[in-house]
Amino acid sequence: MSQLKHLDNSPPTPGKFKMDKSPYIHRLRWHGSLAKLTFWSFIFLGLILIFFFRSPSSNSLPSDPSRRSLRTYNWGGPAWEKRVRSSARVRSRHGMSVLVTGAAGFVGTHVSAALKRRGDGVLGLDCFNDYYDPSLKRARQALLERSGVFIVEGDINDSALLSKLFEVVAFTHVMHLAAQAGVRYAMENPGSYVHSNIAGLVNLLEVCKNANPQPAIVWASSSSVYGLNTKVPFSERDRTDQPASLYAATKKAGEEIAHTYNHIYGLSLTGLRFFTVYGPWGRPDMAYFFFTRDILKGQTIPIFEAANHGTVARDFTYIDDIVKGCLASLDTAEKSTGSGGKKKGPAQLRVFNLGNTSPVPVSDLVTILERLLKVKAKRNIMKLPRNGDVPFTHANISSAQRELGYKPTTDLQTGLKKFVRWYVSYYSGGKKASG
Ligand SMILES: NC(=O)c1ccc[n+]([C@@H]2O[C@H](COP(=O)([O-])OP(=O)(O)OC[C@H]3O[C@@H](n4cnc5c(N)ncnc54)[C@H](O)[C@@H]3O)[C@@H](O)[C@H]2O)c1
Ligand SMILES: *[C@@H]1O[C@H](CO)[C@@H](O)[C@H](O)[C@H]1NC(C)=O
Ligand SMILES: *[C@@H]1O[C@H](CO)[C@@H](O)[C@H](O)[C@H]1NC(C)=O
Repeated sequence: MSQLKHLDNSPPTPGKFKMDKSPYIHRLRWHGSLAKLTFWSFIFLGLILIFFFRSPSSNSLPSDPSRRSLRTYNWGGPAWEKRVRSSARVRSRHGMSVLVTGAAGFVGTHVSAALKRRGDGVLGLDCFNDYYDPSLKRARQALLERSGVFIVEGDINDSALLSKLFEVVAFTHVMHLAAQAGVRYAMENPGSYVHSNIAGLVNLLEVCKNANPQPAIVWASSSSVYGLNTKVPFSERDRTDQPASLYAATKKAGEEIAHTYNHIYGLSLTGLRFFTVYGPWGRPDMAYFFFTRDILKGQTIPIFEAANHGTVARDFTYIDDIVKGCLASLDTAEKSTGSGGKKKGPAQLRVFNLGNTSPVPVSDLVTILERLLKVKAKRNIMKLPRNGDVPFTHANISSAQRELGYKPTTDLQTGLKKFVRWYVSYYSGGKKASG
């Protein structure tokens, strides 16, 4: 896809260039002075070309999707540090100062805005990768900028950058939402899951563990860790050893890594298992979003059914409910207990389902969209492919209810209405929509 475009456009590497030309050079030697002149002209031209292709910008062009991490970012300097400090400054009496990773993402944007609104200090971090349309991430960034949230452009696997951020700001909390999301992308770019969900997570936890004081960390896991479980609703204590995708496997591994950092270093950790989050400023790779786009375009949409014509259903959760769950998790997070990279006592370790508790068949989702868009969908019923999607999700939220006061209040009908209103105004109004 977009990575392949890079491949086609990328110039040949200097090494390759020399290899292709050397047979010519060899033959030219055996001719007279005119040939000699041609020979030296070739060399000269070659040197110019090599010099040209070696310019840093073209050299750092990612030619292979798994190497996208090698992109370099500009950060540092007094003006940059000033912006970082000002964005993270706490403005309410008992406010916290939060580093939000994945702040240009769907959930990250909403959480950052909500924290800022109530007076907390917020600094965003995001690498603006092109897993889906980066212009949507830029539009979210512009939205946050207007409310005073600065998003640092960088990678969570960059330890120098993260250490620098903790040097400039003594974050009390980290809301970790940066990740490679989606299940089907693993066929195209498996390395991105390792890069962000494993290496990036470990790097973040390392820096948090070394920070003084250590922050409390709330991070996004996923309902996908329940994999192919058939016992519903899914409870936090249920087995999570049957992942159905690489995405789910990296989220499950992430939970174990987080557990380890809690146990060894005294980091306070709360893992949130989100259930299919949707809403304004959402993700274009998710069904409710591209169904809306394709229904409006008059294109056929694929609707999956499980084995034996079984229903595929999701516990769709509205973004505002998820945001409330995130903020409540931050508010009830206890302090980390370690210092100087060493554990001083047991630290808080929690995991919560954040869902809506009412699974809706995907065909009903389409019916609601048809009504809201006033367009009939062209449905193509297909068998659920075995590449990561699970047939059914349903959250048991009694734990979050008890400990966070979490109570979802938006049903799918109401939430989709808000999504569609945003969608239409964003894509028709010259992308000038606001939240
Ligand atoms: N939206 C859902 O339905 C859902 C469900 C379950 C879990 N989650 C989890 O919630 C979190 C947020 O999801 P979202 O829907 O907002 O996804 P998103 O893709 O919109 O946001 C993630 C953001 O992280 C950034 N990012 C990715 N890798 C990075 C890296 N290495 N360094 C810096 N930034 C990086 C991306 O650019 C993106 O803006 C993710 O961890 C996701 O796995 C989401
Ligand atoms: C993450 O960063 C580490 C240390 O800088 C580096 O060695 C590693 O290759 C990176 N991992 C990925 C998957 O990008
Ligand atoms: C939901 O989870 C709680 C534990 O948090 C458990 O006691 C309860 O039985 C579960 N409810 C259902 C319907 O499975």
